[in-house]
Amino acid sequence: MSDVTAAASGQFTIGDRRVNRLGFGAMRVTGDGVWGKPKDQAGALATLKRLPELGVDFIDTADSYGPFTSETLIRNALRPYEGLFVATKGGLVRHGPGIWLPVGRPEYLKQCALMSRRRLGVKTIDLWQLHRIDPKVPRDEQFDVMAELQNEGIVRHLGLSEVSVEEIKAAQKKFKVVTVQNRYNLVDRTSEDVLDFCEKEGIGFIPWFPLAAGDLAKPGSVLDAVAKKNGASPSQVALAWVLKRSPVMLPIPGTSKVSHLEENVAAAGITLSDEDFSALDRQGKDAFRKAA
Ligand SMILES: NC(=O)c1ccc[n+]([C@@H]2O[C@H](COP(=O)([O-])OP(=O)(O)OC[C@H]3O[C@@H](n4cnc5c(N)ncnc54)[C@H](OP(=O)(O)O)[C@@H]3O)[C@@H](O)[C@H]2O)c1
Repeated sequence: MSDVTAAASGQFTIGDRRVNRLGFGAMRVTGDGVWGKPKDQAGALATLKRLPELGVDFIDTADSYGPFTSETLIRNALRPYEGLFVATKGGLVRHGPGIWLPVGRPEYLKQCALMSRRRLGVKTIDLWQLHRIDPKVPRDEQFDVMAELQNEGIVRHLGLSEVSVEEIKAAQKKFKVVTVQNRYNLVDRTSEDVLDFCEKEGIGFIPWFPLAAGDLAKPGSVLDAVAKKNGASPSQVALAWVLKRSPVMLPIPGTSKVSHLEENVAAAGITLSDEDFSALDRQGKDAFRKAA
């Protein structure tokens, strides 16, 4: 096993807290369709307990993962969270496996944060992110209640998820946006403009689904070749690529398995050459254009 820890990915300051850039997404420690308990509860718990040993100090979850399963498991595995920074999200309701619906009424968003705080067993949530802006509710009402949560000390920092540059700018009028969490990976470049904006503003960019590489992960592809050259797996190279893409990038690969966690953390030790980075960049953009 590699002795690389997440510290090798470099550091980033979220608001006032310095974390190792390679974090962990806790959506997968749930059942199928991100619903209910994980099939292997002991394995999921062991995965969470392994995080601090591997230097992973930034964990992302949401009240809707399970729902409530992920936050509860995190509390059972990791409280009192010494040195850990736990981010959660609210604003999506669940009616069944794979079903996610936005509800942005201010009273509901406040309820989400209060209940996450209780489930995680903390006085103040390190980072609370609006999972989705609800299109049925004026966005300023959603942003105002977020600012209120911060002023009341229920949450320390605030972030957004699946947003455009214009939406970030609108939220910035109400509070300091410290992170943005959008889908982004080698072959999904929809949020390239958002990433560039975050880099300019010093906002942490959390790419979800960071391991996806589509056909580039197949034998004979450029990713496969770079992986072989570095003695790494394609998913490790996909992670190394997002880490090199920007200093504000905070990838949160998700897994419920200790072995996959260890493999993902070891990716922090892979430094791609500029040449390999550019070749992957070009092929990733091509694959994205073809898929569009
Ligand atoms: N803001 C949002 O709207 C949003 C949406 C989705 C996700 N997220 C967040 O982003 C995090 C990451 O997203 P994601 O889980 O969709 O994508 P991901 O981390 O790119 O991929 C996770 C999948 O890859 C598998 N996997 C992980 N490590 C692996 C490895 N080394 N080798 C082979 N397979 C591996 C996992 O299965 P195993 O469990 O079998 O390892 C899981 O099925 C989530 O945990 C969540 O915190 C946010």
